[in-house]
Amino acid sequence: MLLLRMQHDKVLIIDFGSQYTQLIARRVRELNIYSEIHPFNKIPTNVQEYKAVILSGSPMSVRSENAFHPDLSEIRGKKPLLGVCYGAQYLAHFSGGEVAESNTREYGRANLSFVQENEPFLAGISAGSQVWMSHSDTIKQLPTGGKLLASTHDVQNAAYKIEGETTFAIQFHPEVYHSTDGKQLLENFLVHIACVNPDWTPNAFVEETVAELKEKLGNDKVVLGLSGGVDSSVAAMLLHKAIGENLYCIFVNNGLLRKNEFSSVLQQYEGMGLNVKGVDASARFLEALAGESDPEKKRKAIGRVFIEVFDDEAHQITDVTWLAQGTIYPDVIESVSATGGPSATIKSHHNVGGLPDFMKLKIVEPLKALFKDEVRRVGASMGMDKQLLGRHPFPGPGLAIRILGDITAEKVRILQEVDAIFIDGLREWDLYDNVWQAGAILLPVNSVGVMGDERTYEKVVALRAVESTDGMTADWVDLPYKFLQKVSNDIINKVKGVNRVVYDISSKPPATIEWE
Ligand code: XMP
Repeated sequence: MLLLRMQHDKVLIIDFGSQYTQLIARRVRELNIYSEIHPFNKIPTNVQEYKAVILSGSPMSVRSENAFHPDLSEIRGKKPLLGVCYGAQYLAHFSGGEVAESNTREYGRANLSFVQENEPFLAGISAGSQVWMSHSDTIKQLPTGGKLLASTHDVQNAAYKIEGETTFAIQFHPEVYHSTDGKQLLENFLVHIACVNPDWTPNAFVEETVAELKEKLGNDKVVLGLSGGVDSSVAAMLLHKAIGENLYCIFVNNGLLRKNEFSSVLQQYEGMGLNVKGVDASARFLEALAGESDPEKKRKAIGRVFIEVFDDEAHQITDVTWLAQGTIYPDVIESVSATGGPSATIKSHHNVGGLPDFMKLKIVEPLKALFKDEVRRVGASMGMDKQLLGRHPFPGPGLAIRILGDITAEKVRILQEVDAIFIDGLREWDLYDNVWQAGAILLPVNSVGVMGDERTYEKVVALRAVESTDGMTADWVDLPYKFLQKVSNDIINKVKGVNRVVYDISSKPPATIEWE
């Protein structure tokens, strides 16, 4: 990403462990400004290369003995600096101000009651503007040089600046959508005060990444595993633009994909001009799974066979030196422990660390700097199919973790039929894009039913549809009863072996999205 970082102004977000830190980065990027998150205890040494710095919120109190307390001497007074929530309290508490426990609860919506006039930081924002509060400490006294800029009914020092510096601080969260002028405020600070150039657009990203990949890869051969998902598909398109036929894509059918997915997605990839080989290894996967009902052992078996199949195929490409992966930014952000420990840990994620030692390939990850919504925008700017870019996430082990218990070809067939009716129905009823992820689960339970004059004793299936932003938390979707009624009818009438349909109304937590 050297080129990208050299050509564009970038913003540093120092993370103190707030649940909203990633949102700050996304809001900044929505302004077409490149931003990076780094934990407070690993502030980059090249801090002078950043055009502005934002301090995040935190579950920690600045009054705590273990308060996160980084040295900001290379930043404070030298760079435009914005403290948000904990960041604002930090700038007050350690610089002559006073932070105390607040007497009233300060969570949720509030409205600005006072806004300093003619203040560029607050341009376009007026009294009455709604802001989002989430804190239990409050700034009782501003730090040395502090000047009050805004208040709410309950929070006197809701925004302030330090005279003689480009340092600003706000108690509320501009990154949360409920802060209606949050984006304006970030724009005021970044574009008008810090003079950051908002030129980091999807088109610019494509152009620069392709140029960079060309330079980095030259005439080398690259192998990439396509999954049918958004990330691997967009990564493939970028690489294809850069190195054309030297990108060798492998799309493995593990026999656990959705109905007709292997053939239709393969066709779509070919239509995109990709050099792609479809490998139908269904039998090999089903054999490895035979008789296995433990979810983790199923996952391991699938992972192992995938690597074997992929490795067999990769070895058939002579002189391949690179493995491309669709890793995205949330997979690599180092996160601050929310429990307060100063240790920074890398988030574990299903897709990280997937390279087996024996493959010994160098790794190229063209999407490593992007959030999921940015991957979609980059794909759209390359003219990729909307339906492909809008696809719901689908787990690597596929239907194997939606067939509870052991897996047989017949169970896969039943679930594929049920799933297709559900997903096609969501599309037909225009509900697909309102749902983050959906699928059907085949339960290891038979129930009694009656069809015509016959008593039946057949399988129960569950339908699951959730809304979420990142899969970490999720809630079930309130799908229309009429829709559920139609889908349930179709499933029971059309799928042999199923006589009962239930709808999963559990949120995550405490349930998970997948049943296994
Ligand atoms: P859970 O079930 O943990 O799922 O709430 C969160 C998200 O992760 C997906 N998921 C997986 N993806 N391999 C994957 O590639 C897996 O083993 C796996 N398990 C869950 C799930 O579909 C959801 O999007």
